[in-house]
Amino acid sequence: MPTFTSLPGFRDFFPEDYFLRAHIVHAWRETARRYGFEEYDGPPLESLELYTEKSGQEIVNQLYNFEDKGGRAVALRPEMTPTFARMVGARAGALRKPIRWFSVPQLFRYERTQRGRLREHYQWNVDVVGELDVSADAEVLAVALDSLRMLGLTSDDIVARVNDRRLLEKLLLAAGVPADQLPATYAAIDKLGREDDARIADRLREHAGLGPDTVDNVFAIFKHASFDALAAEYAGIASLSEELSRLSLYFDALRDMGLADYVAFDASIVRGLAYYTGVVFEIFDRKGELRAICGGGRYDKLLAAVSDTDLPALGFGMGDVVLGELLKERGLLPSTAPTVDYYLVTVTDGERAAARTLAHKLRAAGHSVIYNFRATAVGKQFKDAHARGAKKTVVLGPDELKDGIAIVRDMTSGEESRVPLDEIR
Ligand code: HAM
Repeated sequence: MPTFTSLPGFRDFFPEDYFLRAHIVHAWRETARRYGFEEYDGPPLESLELYTEKSGQEIVNQLYNFEDKGGRAVALRPEMTPTFARMVGARAGALRKPIRWFSVPQLFRYERTQRGRLREHYQWNVDVVGELDVSADAEVLAVALDSLRMLGLTSDDIVARVNDRRLLEKLLLAAGVPADQLPATYAAIDKLGREDDARIADRLREHAGLGPDTVDNVFAIFKHASFDALAAEYAGIASLSEELSRLSLYFDALRDMGLADYVAFDASIVRGLAYYTGVVFEIFDRKGELRAICGGGRYDKLLAAVSDTDLPALGFGMGDVVLGELLKERGLLPSTAPTVDYYLVTVTDGERAAARTLAHKLRAAGHSVIYNFRATAVGKQFKDAHARGAKKTVVLGPDELKDGIAIVRDMTSGEESRVPLDEIR
């Protein structure tokens, strides 16, 4: 007989694993609710073209795609943003702007599996459509940060690295990068910090065709220690003033929300996906040991590219895998030991009907209740009650039942009391 295991990069969620996933998803949903976002979902299978056109090469290389029985080229969704843009685009006229929607889809990417990278993951997507003001950019980052704070992480644990593609584009043009080499330059910059500088310089020369002086100019952009230092250096350059003051307002808004300690400017953040057009960010663990927990930004042209609607949009995706690792490392995962409110213990078979009736009444009142399905020694039932984390046991015995009472034991204190059956609630 063959024995089966899950495919590489795919997870089985045993109850204790599922409990942790639910803990994370609960914080995501609760934070979204606090910010007034509505939940939606879309299909897990989409037309292949939705991604080949819009997501950028990195994700396209990782697609789970095939031809369906109707001859359509299809792919499992590797990200939610194209589906989101398609759905909003289809109804945008009827929706109140700005649109605030969120979703928790399972996504599929054929990645090289490693720490923090699997072939499926759950990703919280939070997006806003129909708002150009930078205060929406700040709000979207605040949503992401607040969910992490709700899970117990602080500014000692995490940092959001922020940039603006419009600013970077102008800095690169000023550095001498030709406009048609911007995409290749972004791709090389995206590797900063993950590959050594010499390898990135090679990429800039070979893939973007930059000369040695331009390569030096490009590296100089990333030497500034802070946004203020960069802004001071480029203050005299008129073409940059709009971008600099926009980002300045963005940082001010986050300071108003008490989140300044969580945010740092980083000119090297470009994001791997092709559709971003404005402020972009990634959230990392402070120690820099793990991959990004979250990434997002503004993508003002994507809706027009996948629908008849032309509206600005922005948002982020936060995955459960890296976040779960960080929570584990920081000791912030809740206990996964099972619990149940009541365990009903029957002394003889004669009390089983009464146990069922009592269980039904307590469940209707909202309690969790279990009992043994077949006659079992009382001692064994108590052992089972312990192992299953019962808060209380109710012992139903023939003598007590005749008097309409049962013995309720508090499993933490060990305290016992004789309680009339109709008073157990
Ligand atoms: P992304 O940067 O590709 O963005 O993914 C966002 C987050 O999802 C990552 O930071 C990471 O935590 C998690 N993630 C991605 N791939 C994997 C994987 N193979 N295994 C485990 N976790 C993974 C997007 O997908 C954008 N569509 C997000 C977005 C929404 N932008 C605007 N709205």
